[in-house]
Amino acid sequence: AVSVAAELIRASKYVVAMTGAGMSVESGIPTFRGADGIWSRHGQPSANSYAEWLDDPDAFWSSERRRRLEPWVVELREALRHAKPNEGHVALAEMEATGRVNSVITQNIDGLHQDAGSMNVIEIHGSRDKMRCVDCGDRTPRKTLFIDSPPPPCEECSGRVKFDSVLFGEPIPKDILQAARSESDKAECVIVIGTSTSVKPAGGLPRIAKANGSKLIEINSSETPLTRSCDAVIRGTAASALPS
Ligand code: APR
Repeated sequence: AVSVAAELIRASKYVVAMTGAGMSVESGIPTFRGADGIWSRHGQPSANSYAEWLDDPDAFWSSERRRRLEPWVVELREALRHAKPNEGHVALAEMEATGRVNSVITQNIDGLHQDAGSMNVIEIHGSRDKMRCVDCGDRTPRKTLFIDSPPPPCEECSGRVKFDSVLFGEPIPKDILQAARSESDKAECVIVIGTSTSVKPAGGLPRIAKANGSKLIEINSSETPLTRSCDAVIRGTAASALPS
């Protein structure tokens, strides 16, 4: 399967990698839906978290303060704090440097692709290191780890500011969604790494690319709903499969 995948990559003029939580497992960050996934163990946040934030930011931020002490939040925050890129992130950055991969669309907010040297990275679910105004889209560096009261209004438009990472029910910012769609439209091959593809619109991009004639390569430690649509399946971890 590795040689089939390598041949597909070599034969494609434009290659896009799409990554999910499985990409960062070997960096110590747990997944969401696997056996020991965070949502599997602690339940998934409400599907309309974004509507709750819009409706009552004060209530949202004070529940953030309470949530901060929950074991899974502490676990995830510590994992994110200590996480370093793994061999998979490094291999993907090298593939970009040697022209084998053109861009990375990641659902992860951990910034590890950039830390490993990937240059063309689209963070479709945002970044944990940024704040974003939902009214004008302006992004600014996140200054504090803990946010337990509504951040000051946007300096550009006095709009409503939240962390950049998207909440369930939050529309993907237009600029990001357009960039991700244009990458998957250009792709002749999409390498789908460490994602259950269960969250839309991100999870739909490989299917759209396939419909446009793109080849699909799956790198995942287990089966996913996308597996049967893939042209090559490497059943293994991101940290071992990507270097090979
Ligand atoms: N290497 C490769 N794949 C792995 C590894 C590994 N070491 N470990 C687990 N996986 C696979 C699992 O088999 C699963 O298919 O990674 C995938 C993780 O799936 P999810 O936990 O659903 O993570 P993801 O697909 O990124 O979730 C999408 O959901 O909660 C939202 O915004 C959040 O970005 C996230 C989105």
